[in-house]
Amino acid sequence: MNYYVGIDLGTSSVKALLLSGDGESVASVTKEYPLYFPHNGWSEQNPGDWYNQTVASLKELLSGIDAESVRSFSFSGQMHGLVMLDSEDNVIRPALLWNDSRSQMQTDFLNEDKDFLLDNTANIAFAGFTLPKLLWVKENEPDNYAKISKIMLPKDYVAYRLSGSFCTDVSDASGTLYFDVENRCWSKNILEKFGIEEAWLPKVLESDECAGTLKADLAEALGLSEVKIIIGAGDNAAAAIGTGTVKDGDCNISLGTSGTIFTVSDKFSLDRESAIHSFCSAGRNYHQMACMLSAAVCCNWWVEKILRDGYDEVLSKEDRLGENEVMFLPYLMGERSPVNDTQVRGMFYGMSLDTDKDDMSLAVLEGVAFALRHSIDIIRNMGINIKRSNICGGGTKNKLWLKIISNVLGIELLIPESREGASLGAALLAAKGIMTAHEYEALESKVYKTAETVKPEDGLTAKYEERYLKWRKLYPAVRGIN
Ligand code: XUL
Repeated sequence: MNYYVGIDLGTSSVKALLLSGDGESVASVTKEYPLYFPHNGWSEQNPGDWYNQTVASLKELLSGIDAESVRSFSFSGQMHGLVMLDSEDNVIRPALLWNDSRSQMQTDFLNEDKDFLLDNTANIAFAGFTLPKLLWVKENEPDNYAKISKIMLPKDYVAYRLSGSFCTDVSDASGTLYFDVENRCWSKNILEKFGIEEAWLPKVLESDECAGTLKADLAEALGLSEVKIIIGAGDNAAAAIGTGTVKDGDCNISLGTSGTIFTVSDKFSLDRESAIHSFCSAGRNYHQMACMLSAAVCCNWWVEKILRDGYDEVLSKEDRLGENEVMFLPYLMGERSPVNDTQVRGMFYGMSLDTDKDDMSLAVLEGVAFALRHSIDIIRNMGINIKRSNICGGGTKNKLWLKIISNVLGIELLIPESREGASLGAALLAAKGIMTAHEYEALESKVYKTAETVKPEDGLTAKYEERYLKWRKLYPAVRGIN
């Protein structure tokens, strides 16, 4: 039996998943690493931690596996993070991550000429994207900037250390803001305008293309023979592959730390109002994506920092669905899609003397659902008709939340049999990179199965419609209060 490994390099941990040639997710190992917030709004990690924990998880995952049977590795990576290496390949400073909002000034500066950005990259600037981070380093840490010899994205750093090949893929490159999404290559105009040297940048591949081979010493340490390194994709593009969101019109919602809505299209298109990202997908087509910064992380925050208890009680309060007077704005780290505001923060509204903690717990779940709906409305305005969606990520374990989301969005949710999402997508890309088209189709048919469907209920959808319209009034009322 052949095996393929998917490495999902997330924000809190790396997960290595072993997929067998007959489509079974056989085993997985997760290893955590620290996340640093040196100042309010900053978010950093040490690339060395990603690499060390990746190797540690691979060691554990692959111990006892027949050396010849592991054929390829591939990746799903947290997107947008800026990793800078000097001429000796040393990491210059900790990576600035996707949820780091320090580059707001650079973002505003870039957005002064939105048409130039849209014409060359298909996107406008968000503080999370890589280019504003690079400009921040240039302005605030000129000594570090002067040392740059290579810049890369998080998963590409790990791929580089594993294979020695300096590559990226089209889906992850799409989130840099120096990539021409329509033509799937670096944007010469952007590079020239901002003084970025093309020699600093990795070679761009499609997500299922081979970057190289696992270094011989690592292969030996892991007890493997020849392993191909397939470059993989940004985490949302990988999750789309993992859930079978691959054909024109397919949609996937990911309820991880961040929350994303992802719609696939064969044709390139962009939204000039640009609350929505227009990126290359991992299946050689394109996608539109809305990204909210705080999704499942709102629940972690609420349960761990405030409630210090689980959601169990709320689960028994289904009768409160659609009746909750309390509303929550989930902007705990500012927000990207659709409001693009790094300064805004979370808020509860509508409490009265009757309010209890269950109302507030429910409001947290509903607030995230309303924020997803806000982005869906914009995608619908682009002429994309979303009737149903796959859904993946840690948040899908909460059944009540799925019911709320289905009713707030007014769409059917399909929960795949495998909840692995991004790591499964990465393992599938590993397989696709070395299989024939025919073999890969056979594998897909074994993997893509729906375990459960959650359907909206007319009465509840109508109640939530009313609540949502009220919720929409909250952000305009607090915008600008810092
Ligand atoms: C997507 C985004 C996040 C990160 C972290 O644009 O910023 O989804 O990739 O997972």
